[in-house]
Amino acid sequence: MTGGHTRAELLALLHNRLDDARYAHCVRVEQTARELARRFGADEARAGLAGLFHDYAKQVPVETYRTLIQRQGFDRALLNYSRGVWHGLVGTWFIKTEVGITDPAVIQAIERHTTGDPEMTVLDQIIFVADFIEPARDLPVEAKCREAAQTSLTEATRIELENTLTYLIAKRQIVYPKTLLTYNAFLTKE
Ligand SMILES: [Fe+2]
Ligand SMILES: [Fe+2]
Repeated sequence: MTGGHTRAELLALLHNRLDDARYAHCVRVEQTARELARRFGADEARAGLAGLFHDYAKQVPVETYRTLIQRQGFDRALLNYSRGVWHGLVGTWFIKTEVGITDPAVIQAIERHTTGDPEMTVLDQIIFVADFIEPARDLPVEAKCREAAQTSLTEATRIELENTLTYLIAKRQIVYPKTLLTYNAFLTKE
């Protein structure tokens, strides 16, 4: 699952791509994802690995992303978005090619962490939520989401989706359509 790497090698690969602050965030998301996996009965190793690598490609230069989207058969509509969206959906290309992580459930959870998906699995939701509630997150909405995640992963996901959309709209930023579909799907989810 780890592309044949030891933990020390994985951490070194991650740190090569990220500054110290982003790297530390990834390690905290790994721990939070493991906790959520224990709480909600998901595979702890997968949750940890996806949490650790979820932002691997967050600091890849924008021009590199533009070239990759054009040359590697990605949907051209992605060019209308920003690295905030790309580092999930497109970022897994770097994880697969540079780190050798190919586990489909891990890759999918990383892909979906920036946009959500109406069909998010438990593991997908764990990474989505862990990113938002890792211990250094201290906004009131993040605390509210952390509290919800004590008992309901669905409710925690819903709170985060609501916040994402509210934030984007308040800043007059484009909304990735799937994020809106995800919000709609989760409105009525138990
Ligand atoms: Fe991210
Ligand atoms: Fe993150």
